[in-house]
Amino acid sequence: MRGAMRQVFRFLLPLLVVVALLAWGASTTVSVTSRGWFEKDVQARALLAVTGAHDALVTHVRSGDRRRIASVLEGIARADRIMAAKLCSPSHATLAVNGIFPAGFGCEEIAARMRASTAIGWQWTPTQQTTSLQGGLVHASAIPLLDDGEPLGFVVLLHDMSFVDRREAATRNFTIIAFAVVAVAASVMTVLMARFSWRSWTAEMRRLLSLVRPGAWEHRGDTVRRKEFHPLLSDVRALVTSLAAEQSGSGGGTWSPERLHQTLKSRLGGEGVIVVANREPYIHDRAPDGSIRALRPASGLVTALEPVMRACSGVWVAHGSGPADRDVVDAHDRVSVPPGEDSYVLRRVWLTPEEEKGYYYGFSNEGLWPLCHVVHTRPTFRADDWLHYQAVNRKFADAICSEAQGVDPIVLVQDYHFALLPLMIRERLPRATVLTFWHVPWPNAEQFGICPWPRELLEGLLGSSILGFHTQQHCNHFIDALDRYLEVRIDREKQAAVLGGRETLIRPYPISVDWPNRWLEGAAPVPECRRTVRQELGLKPDALLGVGVDRLDYTKGIEERLMAVGRLLERFPQYRGRFTFVQLAAPSRTAIERYRQLDASIEAIANRINEQFGDRSYQPIVLLRAHHEPPAVFRYYRAADVCYVSSLHDGMNLVAKEFVAARDDEGGVLMLSRFTGAARELTEALLVNPYDLEDASAAFAIALSMSPDEQRERMRAMRMFVAEFNVYRWAGRMLTDVASVRQRDRLTNRLAVLFSATEDLAS
Ligand code: G6P
Repeated sequence: MRGAMRQVFRFLLPLLVVVALLAWGASTTVSVTSRGWFEKDVQARALLAVTGAHDALVTHVRSGDRRRIASVLEGIARADRIMAAKLCSPSHATLAVNGIFPAGFGCEEIAARMRASTAIGWQWTPTQQTTSLQGGLVHASAIPLLDDGEPLGFVVLLHDMSFVDRREAATRNFTIIAFAVVAVAASVMTVLMARFSWRSWTAEMRRLLSLVRPGAWEHRGDTVRRKEFHPLLSDVRALVTSLAAEQSGSGGGTWSPERLHQTLKSRLGGEGVIVVANREPYIHDRAPDGSIRALRPASGLVTALEPVMRACSGVWVAHGSGPADRDVVDAHDRVSVPPGEDSYVLRRVWLTPEEEKGYYYGFSNEGLWPLCHVVHTRPTFRADDWLHYQAVNRKFADAICSEAQGVDPIVLVQDYHFALLPLMIRERLPRATVLTFWHVPWPNAEQFGICPWPRELLEGLLGSSILGFHTQQHCNHFIDALDRYLEVRIDREKQAAVLGGRETLIRPYPISVDWPNRWLEGAAPVPECRRTVRQELGLKPDALLGVGVDRLDYTKGIEERLMAVGRLLERFPQYRGRFTFVQLAAPSRTAIERYRQLDASIEAIANRINEQFGDRSYQPIVLLRAHHEPPAVFRYYRAADVCYVSSLHDGMNLVAKEFVAARDDEGGVLMLSRFTGAARELTEALLVNPYDLEDASAAFAIALSMSPDEQRERMRAMRMFVAEFNVYRWAGRMLTDVASVRQRDRLTNRLAVLFSATEDLAS
């Protein structure tokens, strides 16, 4: 509270000083201007009065009748604010006078002034002589009296100008009061706005907007110049707006496991959730010594969902794919995880080799995976695989029904392996709330049509109450596909589709990582990671290190990444011998030919570059093709000078966010493919087109020469973003929406019961 007051005063005091200066300036300007106007006004009146009396004065001067001249002057002096009037002869003698002229206003002095000036009037600030009159400002006008050009003398009129002072004072007071009112109003508004707006949001907005600056580079030949790595600001702004709206409705503050747990309790009455994902969070296998160990698979989906399940508890239904998986489950194929913590239950579903081949390798990973990623690998759709895909989806539906505690469970269906599952659940548990999240991009309608079963997939997905994608663009693509392939009512404004009277909301939920990241607990300090990793790789202590972390998948652009390293060394020889790129590559889907090809291709590229630029003591590329557990991956993140995420197309990409989470030292540079969902959020990364080797190699050169200050500035901004938009927010937003849908559904059900009871009574 005191901090907030200090902030307020820090802002208000300068504001009040500025307003006071403005008020002073404005009132001075008003005074000077209005005084000029009054003076002109007085002179005009004097001229008018003398002109009106001109003929009479000329006659009486010519006749030498001083009494009558005095009487004319008396008439003139009766006019408002004329204190005194007199007529001076050409020889500066007083011919007649009405009223009292103070010292200094003699005919001689006035004549001297007339000679020195072209004006007909002069103004004096009160002096000792003049204050004796009225105590205020006086103005004297001297108007020559001419008769056919012959000077007969001059009339002097003395005006009381004290009213100018009074008006000036009134104007000044009014101006100051007006400014004070405006200042108070502005301050109150500011304080209210500051009070009601979300502090970190404004900071975030400032961060986003301040970073819209030419910040990147351009390459021409071998030179590298800065140019814009353009953030996709419109998307960021849309995201900011929608999330700000969400924030205002959720009690504020950063999302944490506790807050997620609390949300589940308060909005969903603490009901457990059933998550269904093909990949399990823990794979049990046998260590070389024969003991059973639990491994964490390399999967963005697992990275995101596992901390959420720890916070929510419930059941995770997955394919039991580990060699020792059957050895650890109970009679119901269940095992508590994480090992030693037992936060939630893992329910394993067993697949035959044929099912795995058709459903997982075939339809999911040779069909849908390349269909959804625009990376020019042809999807293969086989009728057999399709049959297995349907059968396995049904098998998972059985498992879910057996895990459901009541008639309306909350089921969170994950990814492209289960497009048919939502409808299958809906048919068996009509009151279930099903939220499906599609972790990969959704292709455009044209491309989606390549799949021979577009209607079945779409209808299956519309069994969901809510269908989530990473980005609004994927939502739009999905709606376009509905439009093209299904007879369905689409409510674009509400972003919903209605099929058979059932509504599915279609929403973007950008996924993230946990924060603070648990793999940082107990992690060695950055300098130690730098030292030990370099030592292990046989590098010099001051060697520059790049890192890539992926499953060995053709969508990740690993070939392009290594080639960019080669191009860097070609274009910028100063990095030869100094820069090493280590690629951590977890073998993946190796039963598929395309993945085996990729493995061979990566090896060939690495060898070629190492031969070209390396020698016995230096290898620019180090390929570590093995599964690495998260602590090992984090050690590499922390040791690196640059991390390159070069996906050719990616729904989000959590490696980019993990790298940011790992760098609590605010060092290191993230190079990020602009074809990832993450590029829409991490706009301070060096955004690159991974297909363009000139672009990517230039980005490497920039990253490797970036000053620690700039690294810190960029990393700090990205860390702020990921901290705020963490995975608990992702899950929290989805569960909040689930709660709203459930509330609505329950109300609808109650009304239906009421209506049918009323109808029964009536009949
Ligand atoms: C992507 C998919 C996930 C999948 C992961 C690993 O991130 O969206 O569903 O788990 O790749 O692939 P894998 O086939 O090994 O599960």
